[in-house]
Amino acid sequence: MAPTAMITGITGQDGAYLARFLLDKGYQVHGMVRRSSSENFERIADLAGRITLHQADLLDQLSIVNLLHTVRPREVYNLAAQSFVPTSWLQPLLTGDFTALGVTRVLEAIRLVDRTIRFYQASSSEMFGQVRTEPQNEDTPFWPRSPYGVAKVYGHWITVNYRESYEMFCCSGILFNHESPWRGKEFVTRKVTDAAARIKLGRQDRLKLGNLDAMRDWGFAGDYVEAMWLMLQQDQPDDYVVATGEKHTVRELVEIAFARVDLNPAQYVETDPALLRPAEVNHLCGDSTKARQKLGWRPRVGFRELIEMMVDADLERVRAERH
Ligand code: NAP
Ligand code: GDD
Repeated sequence: MAPTAMITGITGQDGAYLARFLLDKGYQVHGMVRRSSSENFERIADLAGRITLHQADLLDQLSIVNLLHTVRPREVYNLAAQSFVPTSWLQPLLTGDFTALGVTRVLEAIRLVDRTIRFYQASSSEMFGQVRTEPQNEDTPFWPRSPYGVAKVYGHWITVNYRESYEMFCCSGILFNHESPWRGKEFVTRKVTDAAARIKLGRQDRLKLGNLDAMRDWGFAGDYVEAMWLMLQQDQPDDYVVATGEKHTVRELVEIAFARVDLNPAQYVETDPALLRPAEVNHLCGDSTKARQKLGWRPRVGFRELIEMMVDADLERVRAERH
């Protein structure tokens, strides 16, 4: 019989890639979606009829318990979260409720309904924050620099604790930034690739950015969902860093994106102090040796290829827009 997976956050970037990945592997895929007055299913619209969506919310314990009773999955991927770092300063309590306590609610539901369910938690390189050593691996201490990062540290440790306390199969994937044409437009890569496309096509004049010197280890979301799945196929649950091992500045990102559309960024890009963060994570770079050796995972798409793919997709999207 086909294995069954349940994805929280299926409407997000990673949820959309993971759903396709699991369908290709022959899974029955179920997704948890929260109620909204208008549907937000753009990234999974073409999967209608191939996946099953259920209404539940990370804030509502009983809704998650009922969902697991209904679906009876073998694997649960907890991708849902308030995932935008700047919003976490504006809404620190809500971020803690979704992104930290939400993890415990899913784990409690699993403990109650079926302890043999395999659980994946979407942890983050933001937990390293003010980094102590470079590159960062599974043993690097955490020093989160935002309410989001703090909430993710809680999510990571509660996952480890349910593994150790109840012998549940719980994995924490410490994923570095990963992007795609489906990345939300507020994140810096997509903000830049969308702006490059719009400026090229005469639909936008300027691009305002914050810290151009920030460095990230950016990979492709399509590669990273494979690592999530691989973690749940092992004999033993564990935690893994998933990263490319290369870091680049926001400035380099801008240069590649604008070069793709033959524009000089100096003519269009300005910095805006309002976009600087109360506390910045200046640089992140991951060491994914463990994932490469134990899971056999490796990234396939490089940084330039990723940004060019995103610019090309945005050009196509903007051209198709009516104006
Ligand atoms: P994303 O595009 O922002 O998607 C977040 C998802 O969470 C959306 O489906 C959203 O649903 C859902 N959600 C938020 N609050 C919810 C609630 N209360 N109940 C139910 N669903 C809720 O994020 P992503 O980039 O795919 O990232 C997936 C996960 O990986 C997140 O936990 C993120 O923090 C983590 N992560 C991401 C990266 C990265 O670089 N992308 C790196 C490390 C870790 P709506 O559509 O209804 O808003
Ligand atoms: N969003 C944004 N907008 N970021 C900017 C801008 C801007 O205009 N200008 C400079 N940046 C810098 C930010 O200060 C940050 O240092 C870097 O670009 C990346 O910002 P984001 O793309 O917003 O991502 P993030 O690194 O804060 O968080 C993402 O990656 C985490 C993994 O490390 C999110 O996906 C998190 O959910 C994820 O956990």
